Amino acid sequence: MKFFIDTANIEQIKEAQALGVLDGVTTNPSLMAKEGIKGEENIFNHYKTICEIVDGDVSAEVISTDFEGMIREGEILAALHPQITVKVPMIKEGIKAIKYFSAKNIRTNCTLVFSPGQALLAAKAGATYVSPFIGRLDDIASDGVDLVYKIVQMYRFYGYETQVLAASIRHTQHIIQCVEVGADVITSPLSAIEGLLKHPLTDSGLKTFLSDYEKSQE
Ligand code: E4P
Repeated sequence: MKFFIDTANIEQIKEAQALGVLDGVTTNPSLMAKEGIKGEENIFNHYKTICEIVDGDVSAEVISTDFEGMIREGEILAALHPQITVKVPMIKEGIKAIKYFSAKNIRTNCTLVFSPGQALLAAKAGATYVSPFIGRLDDIASDGVDLVYKIVQMYRFYGYETQVLAASIRHTQHIIQCVEVGADVITSPLSAIEGLLKHPLTDSGLKTFLSDYEKSQE
């Protein structure tokens, strides 16, 4: 399973990269705005900075909602750095754009996916990644992890190569549940990844080892 971090915060990206388990980054316009990144040039530079920190794919989202606009923006984004993956919303024009990018060997991440039918269209159009949003489904009393399961089963059954990138992850347990249903990638906040480290028996065990060592040195 690949681990992506879902943020545009440079410090958090550096921290996740330093942990040695990071495979990529996802951003979206809200995450960029949260970091105060404004204006096309600053946004492009920010994407390049992120690409220089990490080794894997970095999703950069188009703002246009029409086919021509998405193509124009996506080609500019893809040219910024070889690690850029063009993030395209799951709308009719987005599917056309994903098909276009796929023919040009430009990697894509189909975002805002909330149903198996949408995931089917993304795979047929040749998306590199499909992003079902777990947390936002859970927020409306639906089952986000179950959607990931259904998409994984569908892709396996038909042999689609599109990778299932579980997004909108809220906590560590979501990551574990994504492992159980076979997601190819998770993108999550750093806190949820760091939650995987924690176990009280690790802490108490280490405390005992260190105190026994100290005693043995007296
Ligand atoms: C995915 O790529 C999105 O950036 C993200 O996971 C959305 O998460 P949210 O629902 O916490 O905003």
